[in-house]
Amino acid sequence: MCGIIGYVGSKKAAPVLLKGLERLEYRGYDSSGIAVADGEKIEVIKSIGKINELVKKASGSNMPCGQIGIGHTRWATHGVPSDINSHPHLSEDGAFAIVHNGIIENYAELKAELISRGVHFASDTDSEVIAQLLQDNYDGDIISTLRAVAKRLVGSYAVGIVTVYDPDALYAIRKDNPLVVGVGKNENFIASDFAAALEHTHNFVQLENGETARLSSHSVTFYDSDGNNIQKTPYRVDWDIESAEKSGYPHFMLKEIYEQPRAITDTVRPRIKGENGDKIVLDKIEFTDVNVNRIERIDIVGCGSAYHAGIVGKSFIEKYCRIRVNCELASEYVYSDPITDNRTLTIIISQSGETADTLAALRLAKKLGSHTIAVVNVVESAIAREADDVLYTHAGPEIAVATTKGYTTQVAALYLIGLKIAKIKHTISDARYLEVLKEIAALPKKIEAVLKNTDAIESYAKQYAKHKCVFFIGRGTDYAASLEGALKLKEISYIHAEAYAAGELKHGTISLIEDGTITLALVTQSALYLKMLSNIKAVQSRGGTVLAIASKLNEKIGEASDGLLVIPDCDDDVSPVITAVVLQLFAYYVAKERGCDIDKPRNLAKSVTVE
Ligand code: G6P
Repeated sequence: MCGIIGYVGSKKAAPVLLKGLERLEYRGYDSSGIAVADGEKIEVIKSIGKINELVKKASGSNMPCGQIGIGHTRWATHGVPSDINSHPHLSEDGAFAIVHNGIIENYAELKAELISRGVHFASDTDSEVIAQLLQDNYDGDIISTLRAVAKRLVGSYAVGIVTVYDPDALYAIRKDNPLVVGVGKNENFIASDFAAALEHTHNFVQLENGETARLSSHSVTFYDSDGNNIQKTPYRVDWDIESAEKSGYPHFMLKEIYEQPRAITDTVRPRIKGENGDKIVLDKIEFTDVNVNRIERIDIVGCGSAYHAGIVGKSFIEKYCRIRVNCELASEYVYSDPITDNRTLTIIISQSGETADTLAALRLAKKLGSHTIAVVNVVESAIAREADDVLYTHAGPEIAVATTKGYTTQVAALYLIGLKIAKIKHTISDARYLEVLKEIAALPKKIEAVLKNTDAIESYAKQYAKHKCVFFIGRGTDYAASLEGALKLKEISYIHAEAYAAGELKHGTISLIEDGTITLALVTQSALYLKMLSNIKAVQSRGGTVLAIASKLNEKIGEASDGLLVIPDCDDDVSPVITAVVLQLFAYYVAKERGCDIDKPRNLAKSVTVE
């Protein structure tokens, strides 16, 4: 999704903005631009395509000299990707430049009104109305003008503004779209996420709905929606800039795959306490006999991979807690008139903590009286702040659009929540509790073992990379893991991939299997071994080629398959975290073989902040 960076300080703004935009590339975009104010005028440079196109246009003698500016990466929603539709947008008189993330839902009405008053628009975007409204409403005071404009806007927005009327400052307003203010030394920043400004500062302030910020090089002033001055204290973000860089890996995705042992360790270890290492403490979340025994059902809600993590969590939690778990896509949950109340626990999953559909689901669940726990990676994100409780996943910054460590840490966090509830409800024996806890703690070591030898995965990936369609099958928790495996392959290699519950294949989809069709079969559930064996045979007898991914205990399946990848020995209940790593690598190598843009796949955005 679109990205925003803004700078005011003693350096030339353009290079800072261009670097910041590069850091935002991972969010997905189709064009970009900067606006730099030099005390007299605002210079705007924009370009369709990659940031390096913009860099070319803004370098050498074309580089603006001003020390205040805003930059934007655009992901087209209203109006095709083009130079003109890229941000920043200037007001017709050139006095205001804005960058905008979000959607102005009433833009057509506002645009018609402004046109009727003689204003000329340059672009097809909804965003340009903000710049034109600023010009139209300017009353000599920027804060009051911004308030007047904000009152006219329906929809969601994070907006950065520079104006010739205040040549020492840049401004920001927001509603339902993330925006942080980075507080530096003799320089300050605005950004849609802190990755864009992390190399300059670790101190950030979240701008809340309805608030306005005025940033000069030496100060940041905040105003509430009535224009009153308010105090806000910065918090520190400990992520280092190296963690947002490739550190020698060819792609962020590969680096993030390799970071999983560390990410899972950081998510799990600090939560296992007690002298014997047998107690789970989930930060500030209070799980007591009373509130746990009150839970009659659990809803898990998320989008994309977060939803898939929820499906894995569902089978684990149902098995050990004996509570009915309903896993819902956030975009469906919101419009499904959900049955929920104060006896339902709602677990909201989101790596970014800013996904608009998921945020809407959280708000609805809260409104209907459900207690909400957010499993989130990005500290102080909207979902983390609005949920009743939060369990951070500590994956660190995830830059590749296709999530890897974000997903596996979500699954690990759900395991901890499930085990904690099961222990309180006495629905798990003490011995099994300890066994599973040990298995969760051992996951990083087992993932390390997978990562040490990826040759076979790479070789199968190369062999199958030319295929047009790949099926993923599994039963039970293997089926849940297949869903994520298929999504990874679709996202980055553009191969049509479908996950099916292995037993369901015969009810229709098997008609698609023909000579050479590739099926990846997950076989880690010992109790379902024989059933999987028959499913594999059924695929092969229609001419299909089967690559089995099996745990050590089930490796005999290799004799019946066309290829085999064996994962380290692990408990059946936690195998999805390990198979996920194998499937991530498979998708990665397929995409690499096909020459795809792995970190920034077409049409996808890392953080989807519109519904
Ligand atoms: C986007 C990303 C997916 C991600 C989903 C949910 O669609 O491309 O990879 O799983 O959003 O994101 P979240 O940040 O809420 O986990």
